[in-house]
Amino acid sequence: MPQVGDTSRVKSIEWIDEELLLLDQTQLPVDVVVEKQETIEQVWDSIKQLKVRGAPAIGVAGAYGLVVGMRGDTGLDREKFLEKLQERADYLDSARPTAVNLSWALKRVVAKAKQSAAGTGTELLQVVHEEAIEIHHEDEQLCKRIGENGVDLIKPGFGVLTHCNAGRLATSEYGTATAPMYLAHERGVAFRVYSDESRPLLQGSRLTSWELQEAGVDVTVITDNMAAHIMSQGLIDMVIVGTDRVAANGDVANKIGTMGVAILAKHFGIPFYVASPFSTIDLDTQTGADITIEERGDDEVTHFGLRRTAPEGIKVRNPAFDVTPNELVTGIITDRGMVQAPYSENLKDIFYAKA
Ligand code: MRU
Repeated sequence: MPQVGDTSRVKSIEWIDEELLLLDQTQLPVDVVVEKQETIEQVWDSIKQLKVRGAPAIGVAGAYGLVVGMRGDTGLDREKFLEKLQERADYLDSARPTAVNLSWALKRVVAKAKQSAAGTGTELLQVVHEEAIEIHHEDEQLCKRIGENGVDLIKPGFGVLTHCNAGRLATSEYGTATAPMYLAHERGVAFRVYSDESRPLLQGSRLTSWELQEAGVDVTVITDNMAAHIMSQGLIDMVIVGTDRVAANGDVANKIGTMGVAILAKHFGIPFYVASPFSTIDLDTQTGADITIEERGDDEVTHFGLRRTAPEGIKVRNPAFDVTPNELVTGIITDRGMVQAPYSENLKDIFYAKA
């Protein structure tokens, strides 16, 4: 049985021999292609195009992107280096707006460099590099703890529905929503996962089913519009999804379609859990209404693969995320424990708690 933490598999992000390597997730499940990131523009593009994707993973990629972007600038003095670092962090941050982890990681690296006593560009680059590695390794640990805090929710015989990919591909390891699943599987609990396809970019069918199948977890792909039927048949005992940003009041942004799943879960009396590391909790965003929802290109909706499936010139909307109101959330499984309503109070407590 594959073990949690099995490092033999290809990872979403690696830093090897001073190079940033990203698994091109747009090519999964057909091709496994790892791309070396040569420039900061390439990193920006990889984030924008979803070659690297998932909230924690784009945070880690962004942090390493600053190393890639600054390594030609070691000749600058401290002031100029920090100025350029800030500019480049702002640039990477512009790639995607919804997941807070990207801006969180970039701010963290810039703050670390500013707070350091490093006097030269070379020393500052070292600080940037060390902080990126720290964020990367920390993410692995956060996901592992989410697994430990959520594993007991999955009982033998359970059907678990998930939406999009909040798996190891979306993080440094283990995933967030999938961490309890991997751990339950490792402990020999027999359960089934239903993975929503997650239109329009199919993260559920292309990525979640791929990584769970690879790990030997019993997984079934359904299209998004099948979830109500599958629930009505009594096949789902719980929902676990990931998140791109949790607002201070517990509203949860996640892949478009998540709110629909939460509404269905309420209708059928099924608990709806969100898995989130503290790095995705944003107490500066008061409610879901304050979260910027990324709008993506029309072609993702008007085409299926390369084939056009809507008429030329048709009007299209393509919001990539939606916000599930906190009252539909049974609990948020964090690296620091389970948080439940009232979220405004309890999120503050958990956020400021020691990891
Ligand atoms: O557009 P994507 O593929 O980056 O969206 C990903 C999601 O919505 C995930 O559920 C979320 O980022 C959590 S990943 C642990």
